[in-house]
Amino acid sequence: MTATFGGRTRGFTESVIRGMSALAREHGAINLAQGFPDFPAPDLLKEAAARAIADDVNQYAITWGSRRLRDALARKYAEWYGMAMNPETDITVTCGSTEAMVATLMAIVEPGDEVIVFDPFYENYGPDAILCGASLRHVPLPMGAPLDLERLAAVFSPKTRAIILNTPANPTGRVLTREELGAIAALCQRFDAWAVTDEIYEHIRYAGPHVPMATLPGMAERTVTISGASKTFAVTGWRIGWAIAPAVVSGAIRKVHDFLTVGAPAPLMEAVAVALDQLGSEFYGRLACEYCGRRNLLHDTLVASGFRATLPDGAYYILADYSALSELPDDRFARWLTTEVGVTPVPGSSFFSTPDPARRLVRFAFCKREDTLLQAAERLRKIP
Ligand SMILES: Cc1ncc(COP(=O)(O)O)c(C=O)c1O
Repeated sequence: MTATFGGRTRGFTESVIRGMSALAREHGAINLAQGFPDFPAPDLLKEAAARAIADDVNQYAITWGSRRLRDALARKYAEWYGMAMNPETDITVTCGSTEAMVATLMAIVEPGDEVIVFDPFYENYGPDAILCGASLRHVPLPMGAPLDLERLAAVFSPKTRAIILNTPANPTGRVLTREELGAIAALCQRFDAWAVTDEIYEHIRYAGPHVPMATLPGMAERTVTISGASKTFAVTGWRIGWAIAPAVVSGAIRKVHDFLTVGAPAPLMEAVAVALDQLGSEFYGRLACEYCGRRNLLHDTLVASGFRATLPDGAYYILADYSALSELPDDRFARWLTTEVGVTPVPGSSFFSTPDPARRLVRFAFCKREDTLLQAAERLRKIP
């Protein structure tokens, strides 16, 4: 039978990251491809979720999120960043930040609009833009180099509806500085564009405090702040995220969210609210410190094994250059590393908008137990 459906999804490819995870399973390799923790979530969350289920918090919650979680979020954003918001109108709880991003773009972007994304970028943003009929405009944001503001300014135009920012970033670990955010904010204001910020790694950073774009002067009214519980609380399977935006935009996001999913899982929203209320600065400090240890361990391993890599400033990935080890293209190198060495990365090309035959990059995730990273180190050090 000839498939005549899927016009909108024709440009989609299978997720390379999930494909690499399947390859890791097939070959018994250590999976440093997919960004999920292999260590337990905090007991406090698990107990609160179990309690909520036992207490029969098992039916649909309010579509835009339980009041308890929205209140806890409003308190936390005030405490962390001094951000003021009305939990009744400005917060939408979604099925992960993934849904928050697609619902936001569907709410604010019209077919034919342009959306700016830095390159390399998290692979979901491409399909997100396609789903709402937008075209992506890419601007390079390499590791260890300042943002080329002239190049960015040249891409902004009256067609620009939004810029997607991801700081700290996947896959580079790049954190946008306050100055860079200020320059981007000025462009958003000049071209009347939205900043849609994916801040899912806000608590996993190694150099200075996190600066949300919405805290810059004049930006709260043109920023959608997206984040979630997946990475902070090591619960990627729970699917709890959120979008914070001015009431009129939140209203549009909520409509999309209602028809896409009805709502996020009710008992898990309770548990995330408990975690936000009860885990304090000690938890967040320890989280960043433990991730810093994992980062240093993986970085030292990669450098000792012949990769070239810089230390990321945030998130839990290292994008490493293997040109001193192999001339294979990145997809074949990632496969070779899986089958012959027993460690699985993601080919770097899956994070770039355009192919480059000279690129020799793979991404490793270090959201893993020390034991897992030590086992990977033992294998990687044997690379001939
Ligand atoms: C930049 C970025 N945004 C979003 C997500 C997905 O987050 P969530 O589990 O909240 O949907 C990931 C997961 O790897 C990510 O790297």
